[in-house]
Amino acid sequence: MEIKKILVHNFRNLEQQNLQPDARLNIIIGKNGQGKTNFLEAIYLMANGESHRTSTTKEMINWNKEGFLVQILLFKNSSEIKISYSLKNRDRKIKINNNPVEKISDFIGNLNAVLFSPEDLKLVKGGPAQRRKFINTEISQVNSYYHHLLKKYNNILKQRNNLLKDIQQNNKTRKKNEDMIAVWDEQIAEAGSKIVLKRKKVINKIKILARLMQRRITGGRENLNLYYETDLKGETTAEVKNYFTEQLSQNRKKEFRLGYTTLGPHRDDIALLVNDRDIRKYGSQGQQRTTALALKMAELEFMKSEIGEYPVLLLDDVFSELDRERKKLLINLIRGRIQTFITSTEDEYIDILKKEKEVKIFRVQEGNFSLHSSPENKQQEGKG
Ligand SMILES: Nc1ncnc2c1ncn2[C@@H]1O[C@H](COP(=O)(O)OP(=O)(O)OP(=O)(O)O)[C@@H](O)[C@H]1O
Ligand SMILES: [Mg+2]
Repeated sequence: MEIKKILVHNFRNLEQQNLQPDARLNIIIGKNGQGKTNFLEAIYLMANGESHRTSTTKEMINWNKEGFLVQILLFKNSSEIKISYSLKNRDRKIKINNNPVEKISDFIGNLNAVLFSPEDLKLVKGGPAQRRKFINTEISQVNSYYHHLLKKYNNILKQRNNLLKDIQQNNKTRKKNEDMIAVWDEQIAEAGSKIVLKRKKVINKIKILARLMQRRITGGRENLNLYYETDLKGETTAEVKNYFTEQLSQNRKKEFRLGYTTLGPHRDDIALLVNDRDIRKYGSQGQQRTTALALKMAELEFMKSEIGEYPVLLLDDVFSELDRERKKLLINLIRGRIQTFITSTEDEYIDILKKEKEVKIFRVQEGNFSLHSSPENKQQEGKG
């Protein structure tokens, strides 16, 4: 998969950028606060339908403007696709090949992209929410039904929790609300069981890929294992659903007292073991980094196996966080195969990457990109 052209208009501090990235390696260099992450965020938005760092879309509109536009011309499965996303005031317009699309789940997954940022180094040591987000974005990009299911689940969960909160706090309406909870049980168990099973299935695939990566990075010293951690038992949707509903009615009193839903995929986690030890608790910094990298690379391979070609890889400032060995491994992995965007504040490691045959180097200053060098070194790009 390849981004041929990208137009970014009034997106955060990027006022008007029109770039033709290299089919392979793109390095984006600039001082802090110049717009490097903003640019990757724009690409991420086009792949996932949401930002990786805010849930408020309008935050991405340039402070002095009323709306933003991002357009990408994509080469995928031997054909061109044009996708565009614009937001003006509150009006969002998404289009595929100039045709308006209603549902965001139909938009997601046209462009596939994997982002790796220093945040992801917390994938191991951070809370379960981080690992759930990892698995959710990964599946959503290759499976729009999953994305739809997730939204539905979160919606049901929110309403169910509101009701529980009300029961906890409001004695007058208590009896009436207590009777209503069973209606939500059915719905939450229906959507929840499907989510759990899909996640389990995908984790089984990723497990194999991540284990391979971890062995490669550590020269075979570390054996990574992962599995889906959930209180919900069962091997089929019907089994999980039944178990889910049973548990909810068993936990009834407890939930009335606490005021929230105590089990379900929103509470689950991914267990990570290295040489049989839980590295979420016991992992050294190095092991955490290795595992985060292994998981990300597994994500890349997983997507390839699902869609038939590599997604675009976005590496936000992550090189400076990796040691020499891991850097080398990452370069070897992406070399010549994956369209990659790397941001950095330093010129240091570029010396390694500059020697690559196919590379474009962009410099960014106050939201303006300029092409610094490329093999042809002639193309004029940037402002336009
Ligand atoms: N909605 C917005 N409108 C205009 N400017 C914005 C908006 N949101 C953020 N910015 C500005 O964009 C600038 C660049 O942000 P960005 O995160 O891309 O920097 P960066 O180049 O990645 O820096 P670093 O190296 O520190 O990560 C910031 O200075 C921020 O103030
Ligand atoms: Mg940044």
